[in-house]
Amino acid sequence: MGRYSECDCESIVEEIRLYPSILSADFTNLRESIHQLQGSDIAGLHVDVMDGHFVPNLTFGPWICDVLKKICDYPLDVHLMIDNTYDFFSHFLKSNVEALTVHYESSPQLHRIIQLIKKENIKAGVSINPGTSVTVLEDVLSEIDMVLIMTVNPGFGGQSFLKYTLNKIEKLWNLKEQMNRDLMIYVDGGIDENTVKEVAVKGARGIIAGSSVFNAPIPRKQANLIIENAYDAIEKGDLA
Ligand code: DX5
Ligand code: ZN
Repeated sequence: MGRYSECDCESIVEEIRLYPSILSADFTNLRESIHQLQGSDIAGLHVDVMDGHFVPNLTFGPWICDVLKKICDYPLDVHLMIDNTYDFFSHFLKSNVEALTVHYESSPQLHRIIQLIKKENIKAGVSINPGTSVTVLEDVLSEIDMVLIMTVNPGFGGQSFLKYTLNKIEKLWNLKEQMNRDLMIYVDGGIDENTVKEVAVKGARGIIAGSSVFNAPIPRKQANLIIENAYDAIEKGDLA
């Protein structure tokens, strides 16, 4: 267990929550791949749903939540990367889903979707692509629980972290501080034991990491290292 396992942090906002993305898990033996995380301090699993339209890749539908429920009891953080969010999001309002994140770019009915997710007592998140400014979220920030800032262009695991997105994290942090909102800032893409330090200092508290966790020799150790490095960077950093 890591040193923050008992959560000696002041509030949930100060807690680092790591969600390994199952996109990089070994699907020839998913049960064993997830089992390798046992004993780590992860908060849950990240589930990347892709439709081949919004992003140039296809993954899985709502059934994956049922499969995961059978093989583990981790809460699921579901990330919808689909064009027709409004037609499909309700299929993901499952009992093991802790948070459902939809993309700003593919959700013209954004406010309605957020309300319907929250009605089910599931955390509502909105994600923005690297090319989308955080300012577009200003009017919904008071309604949502989390913002997922894409730190790569969505579609694939294993891409390199886009450094310029650090400014967006900082901008969003300032925005939420101005509004005095208990909003969690999540980051997704290219996060490893090094880049996590940079995003944590800028204000990210929700960390999604796929390839760096599942491709590590000992995924459990790698997950804990990412978490520890985030806390160390926050302690040493000057923003948060
Ligand atoms: C990318 C997905 C990510 C992906 C991250 O579109 O949203 O969650 O799995 O993978 P890594 O950590 O390998 O960049
Ligand atoms: Zn994702």
